[in-house]
Amino acid sequence: MSTVCELPSSSFEHLLHRLYAVQRQFLHIPPQAMHQIAIEYNVPISQIAAVVAFYTFFHTETCGRYHILFSNCTSCGYLMDGHNLMQMLCDQLQVIPGKTRQDGLISIMETSCIGMCDQGPSLLINDVPFSRLNPGRINQIARQIISEVPVTDWPETWFEISNALYRRDLLLTESLVPGSALQIAFAQGAEPTLKKIARSGLRGRGGAGFDTAHKWQSCRTALGDTRYIVCNADEGEPGTFKDRLLLQRYVDAVFEGMTVCAAAIGAQKGFLYLRGEYRYMHPHLIEVLEQRRKLNLLGSQILGQADFQFDIDIVVGAGAYICGEESALIESLEGKPGIPRIRPPFPVTHGYLGQPTVVNNVETFIAAAFIALKGDEWFKTRGTELSTGTKILSISGDCKFPGVYEYPFGTCIQRILDDCHAKNVQAVQVGGPSGRLIHPQDFDRVISFEDISTGGSILIFGAQRDLLIIHRNFAHFFAHESCGFCTPCRVGTRLLKNHLDKIANDRSTMVDMLEIKRLSHLIQHNAHCGLGHTAANHILDGLQNFPHTFEHHLQNDFSAQFDLHRALANARQIDQQSDAENPLD
Ligand SMILES: Cc1cc2nc3c(=O)[nH]c(=O)nc-3n(C[C@H](O)[C@H](O)[C@H](O)COP(=O)(O)O)c2cc1C
Ligand code: SF4
Repeated sequence: MSTVCELPSSSFEHLLHRLYAVQRQFLHIPPQAMHQIAIEYNVPISQIAAVVAFYTFFHTETCGRYHILFSNCTSCGYLMDGHNLMQMLCDQLQVIPGKTRQDGLISIMETSCIGMCDQGPSLLINDVPFSRLNPGRINQIARQIISEVPVTDWPETWFEISNALYRRDLLLTESLVPGSALQIAFAQGAEPTLKKIARSGLRGRGGAGFDTAHKWQSCRTALGDTRYIVCNADEGEPGTFKDRLLLQRYVDAVFEGMTVCAAAIGAQKGFLYLRGEYRYMHPHLIEVLEQRRKLNLLGSQILGQADFQFDIDIVVGAGAYICGEESALIESLEGKPGIPRIRPPFPVTHGYLGQPTVVNNVETFIAAAFIALKGDEWFKTRGTELSTGTKILSISGDCKFPGVYEYPFGTCIQRILDDCHAKNVQAVQVGGPSGRLIHPQDFDRVISFEDISTGGSILIFGAQRDLLIIHRNFAHFFAHESCGFCTPCRVGTRLLKNHLDKIANDRSTMVDMLEIKRLSHLIQHNAHCGLGHTAANHILDGLQNFPHTFEHHLQNDFSAQFDLHRALANARQIDQQSDAENPLD
């Protein structure tokens, strides 16, 4: 490659998008490109290099022209046998996982959940998702690649994503005429709209359940020159895919909710932060935004309001679960590595570019749009006293009907299992790996902020499953996704992963279990952000609710994790060294 890169021409664009375009052209991000981009963006090259190093979708080594990412989440990888399918494709194409084939045609890697848990096993090829894989489809994919057929020319039916929606309730039975909620919000005014949201009791649907009206009000009254609205569409929690469906079928309501919020708090600019795994939705989102501009629902003087202007940009991430954490997301929006900020101050006062910023989940904005339209009393016809309205759930794992379901808050787990035809259930993981592992004796507990709260994932494990494999998968996930900023999480999640590998290899004793418990509490209480606080939840729940999962792998006597004889065996064979205790085989 020459010393000066011929980069794709661009007007000023988001740094992540710029790097993505470079990578599309060169199949990696070369040092010369980083240098040139640093000059363009007027930042030190070290900042560009840090961004490239942080996001797993950016590469400094050349990827294949067919770059394949297999989802290694529990659903796709273990429950649906995706690991074996990956090995099968690697064998057929003679690729070593994690490496680019020598002729540069193919690279195959694992990636964290790509939001296809209801239709796994799944993968992305050059950002295009393929789901419901089986050995037959793997053969077909291998043949297309060997013949070097461009992915865009493959049969369309292979790309079909089903958005199975099995239960609709308050929100998803409604359809929203674009602009209808906004019109009411303008007619009523900012303060009454905020009061309506407050009376509805709406709480954030991203997991933590923070009071939405309180967040909006705090942002409205915070000191600042410009206010920002951010829709968190990072949806990286393994087992969660409801935002995938909402963004494809209800995105007008998402943008409407963002604009209602902007009108209520006086914001001028919005962003929808879309996870890199959902890049294929980008054109659809851009199209809907364009339609809304034509309808004067975005831009200046929206619906004739002389003093109101607001527009929304889409920013696509690059493969980092931590960017779902709101302050990490804001860092990423600013073109930096997604490392969570020290809080306080909170985004409502010091968010994007240090200005007051509201961050809400996709589903929260949809609920806000419908509350603006239909009123708080309508919303409160569902749910419990402290958890009003409904929750949209992503249900997957061992059940007959995996897909998206909307339930009133207060619905018990057993009802959900009955509806999706889950039989002989051993355990349910609610809220993804960072959530809770629920025992059948607790299936009468309910989904709500006062009982079991969730961002939306329900993962079902039948009696035939080995829960230890699931714990191991979750531990690997957290060790991989820890951003590395703080020691308790960076080191702790890796130690937990090693411990779970050790148990799975039948080399642990009761002493290890005590150490795992100690480590879990240490990470929970000393980590810097929510990822670390919750990374060991599944282990602590497992130890309490399913102790046999671990116990039947334990040894009575101490046995070293490291087998010196086995490690030296090859070397001894090569130089024909032997000793009395370990004679050559
Ligand atoms: C590691 C981590 C990942 C998160 N991922 C998401 C996510 O994908 N989507 C989301 O809305 N919130 C996510 N959150 C929660 C956000 O930080 C934030 O609370 C939320 O976006 C606020 O929106 P809400 O009030 O509407 O729930 C995550 C938090 C953590 C700690
Ligand atoms: S807890 Fe983990 S993810 Fe959060 S800041 Fe620390 S290292 Fe990063």
